[in-house]
Parts: sequence; structure tokens; C-alpha cells
Amino acid sequence: MPRFLSAQPDSRLIALPWATPLEAWPTGLLVALPRGISRHVVRFIRVGDDVYAAKEVIEHLALHEYRLLHDLRRLGAHGVEPLAVVSGRTTATGEALDPILITKHLSFSLPYRSLFHSGVRQETVLRLIDALVVLLAQLHLFGFLWGDVSLSNVLFRRDAESFAAHLVDAETGELHDVLTKGQRMHDLTIARTNLFGEFLDLEAGGLLDSSLDPLALVDTIEKRYEELWRELTGAESFHGSEVGRIEGRVRRLNALGFDVAELDIRTSPTGDQIRIQPKVVDPGHHSRRLLRLTGLDAEENQARRMLNDLDTFRAARNLGHMDEAVVAHKWLTEVYEPVVAAIPPELRGKRDNAQFFHEVLDHRWYQSQEFHREVSTHEAAHSYVDQYLRALPDEAVSQESMVQVTQTGMTPVNPYDPSKGFAEDTDEMPIFDPWEESAEEVDLASANTFDIAALRAKAKGNQQ
Ligand SMILES: Nc1ncnc2c1ncn2[C@@H]1O[C@H](COP(=O)(O)OP(=O)(O)O)[C@@H](O)[C@H]1O
Ligand SMILES: [Mg+2]
Repeated sequence: MPRFLSAQPDSRLIALPWATPLEAWPTGLLVALPRGISRHVVRFIRVGDDVYAAKEVIEHLALHEYRLLHDLRRLGAHGVEPLAVVSGRTTATGEALDPILITKHLSFSLPYRSLFHSGVRQETVLRLIDALVVLLAQLHLFGFLWGDVSLSNVLFRRDAESFAAHLVDAETGELHDVLTKGQRMHDLTIARTNLFGEFLDLEAGGLLDSSLDPLALVDTIEKRYEELWRELTGAESFHGSEVGRIEGRVRRLNALGFDVAELDIRTSPTGDQIRIQPKVVDPGHHSRRLLRLTGLDAEENQARRMLNDLDTFRAARNLGHMDEAVVAHKWLTEVYEPVVAAIPPELRGKRDNAQFFHEVLDHRWYQSQEFHREVSTHEAAHSYVDQYLRALPDEAVSQESMVQVTQTGMTPVNPYDPSKGFAEDTDEMPIFDPWEESAEEVDLASANTFDIAALRAKAKGNQQ
């Protein structure tokens, strides 16, 4: 009899064929979805309308990962949601089988390989690295030593023009109160090694643009991480007459998506020197504010964009006197909901609602420029659906998405196990993605997607 460990028991799981090794589960129960490289047997299973990821792994690792994923979610980190560990499995002939860890499939998530099709831009690669670096810094702030940082252990979700990274594999992780510098550097070294291998692998498969050098790419990881960590935790000293710098620091952190829960401010005895250091920094500043105001759950940059649109709405309608929550409700019903309602049911799998809204706002801007007039959000939503959305690959859970999201036009040998590779190459064109297409070539050395320098310059300008 299998045993179920779960905080949210799902009775539909009981009927699944636990006495069969996961590798041999009937395909009728499985969903073919793109997946990263893994050590263990991992399958996506369909349970009613839900899709779960199942991983067959030895008992103590399954339990360890289940608990850690729970703890991380409680802390507010970006990671997949654990659902259950099924142990005590035996085959019909009495042979013992390893337990299965079940997590909820992260909707609209893309493994990194799906994002690299021929001609991927430098911009995109840098945005992926940035997303990974932000996730790593967040996890480190929570005291999580990952131990196996890699692109395969992360899932990416579109977040406005960037990506948001979510942790998927916590097997090697440890949760501490605070990490030492040595522990953080340990994770960075692992990140370097793993990503170098992953980039070489992409290069060998002809998926990495020839202008991208794996070594230069991994060098940027350390640089970006250091920059971000300094901004999040570094102490800053300045003259007593420059108190505006305190606000500047908070703004910069907010712009990077972090909330400052506490700021340690010390003044010298004469009061002419001030030293500040953020103490606790919580990620998800804009997402939390958006959730509070509208109940919408979005990634950080999507949320920031929506909040900007909300501000514009407030100014344009002259609603400055009205309570923020009331304005937010008006915006939700008069702007956001009609835009999302413009997505025909058959196209719902292309983008999640928040990302669609963001793309419509971009489209509206381009159209207004082109037509030399103010294009309404409603009009932009409909023309975006007709001109672009239809042609985009599905990114939600669907049988078709496997083949589409790989974007190479190749057919996998076993659609339920992408690690088996592709049947044969065809020369079908990759699917056109306007977001990839519009990404500009950037100079790796001068690229700075966090734009800390620009934020600094802006904050300085505000103070003068
Ligand atoms: N909850 C999930 N949602 C979406 N994809 C998942 C989920 N869990 C696992 N995957 C996919 O399966 C792959 C392997 O899972 P992982 O936990 O890294 O296994 P391993 O421990 O064998 O490396 C991941 O790279 C990811 O693409
Ligand atoms: Mg893994």
C-alpha cells in the first residue's frame, strides 16, 4: 500500500498506478510538455484538469525536497509548489520502488531550452541570466544555499520584456538563518560551472548564436550578482546634507523589485555623516502592491507596468482625489478586464493574462506612433490578437505545446521524455516571435539590464 504525505491531499491521486515504475506509466495519463535535463525520471501527469510534475527519487531526497519547497514558499520565494510524496511503492511482484515527489506544474513556464531556437538574441540570453541572478540573490537573502544552480533547475516565465525565474529543483538545498559570503560564493561557482556546460551544450547543438561566447556569458553572472547583492545589502555613507540619498536608495531597491522592510541608519556623533544599510529586503514589491489593490497575481515587471497604467488612468480621468483602492477597482473593470476578454477562448493558451495585457500596451504604443493618433487600449487589444497572438506558439499546458514550444520544428522520439532527443531534423522555419524579433543586439560588455547605473543617475537627478 503506498503512503501519501501531503498538506493538501488530493484523492484523485489514489487511483494512479503507483505499482508501476514511472517510466512505464501509460501515456494516457501523461502530458507531453517541454522539460529541462534531469537526473531522475520526471513525467507530467494529468489529474482531472490539473497537470502535476512527478519525479521518482530516493526517499530521503524526496522528503527533503518536499519540505524545502514548502519552506521556501512560506518565505515567499519563487519556486514550484510541492503537493505530495508517495512512498512505500511496490510492484505486483513485491519489488520496492522509489517514492515519487509530486509538484504542481508551473503554468506558462518554459524550460530554458525552449527559449533557445536558432538566432536567439544576446539580449534574450542576458535577460535569462539576469532572471537567474535575481532568483539566486532572493534565495540567498532568505538563507537558502542552493547547491545546484543551473538553467535546467529553473523555469522561466515571461515577465513583461524580461523573464522571471522560478526554482524547480531544491534537492541539494539547505536552509540557514544567514548565509556566509563563502556559502554564497560556493553557489556562484556552481552556477558558473553548470551554466558553462549548458551553454557549451547549446553551442554544440547549434542553438547558441555564434556571437555568444559561453565563457563571456558565465563571467557576466558573477558581475551581475555582485552588483545586485551590493545594491541589496551594501552599506552607504554620505554627508549629513545629502539625506535625500536615503530615499534614493529605497527607490532604487523598489525599482529592482525589492521592498525595504528595515533600514539601518546611523549618524556620526556630530551628525554630519550618515551611514545606511538595508536590513531586510523582501522581493516582489510591485506584485504585492498590485495584489493588494486589484487581487491580480502577476510577475514583478508585469505588475510594475500595470501599476503605471493605473497611475496614467488615474491622472487621465482626474481621479487624484479618489481613494487608491476605488480607482484600482475602476481600472480593473474598465481597462484590464475588457482587454483580457478580447482573447478568444481558443487562444487562451498563448499567453497568460498579465503578459497579454503588457504586450497589448506595447502594441498600443507602436500603433499610436504609426497612426499619429491616440489608439485606445480596446482597439489595440483586438488588433494585437489578429496581428500577433494567433501566430504565437502555445505556452500553456496542451498536447500541442510540446512540439511547438521546442520551436525547432523537430519531432521528439518520445514526446513524454524529451531527454530522448529528436527523431530527425527537418528544415521547418522556427515560429516567429515578435518579442524575440524586436529584442535589439546589445554589446555584452556595456549591457546592463538591471540598469543600476541609470537608476542611480535618475535618483541623483531627482534629488537635485
Ligand atoms: N512543477 C514543475 N513544473 C514544470 N516543470 C517541472 C516541474 N517539476 C519538474 N519540471 C521539469 O522537469 C525537469 C527536471 O526536474 P528536476 O526536479 O530538476 O529533476 P532532477 O532532480 O532529476 O534534476 C525540470 O528541468 C523542469 O523542466
Ligand atoms: Mg534538476
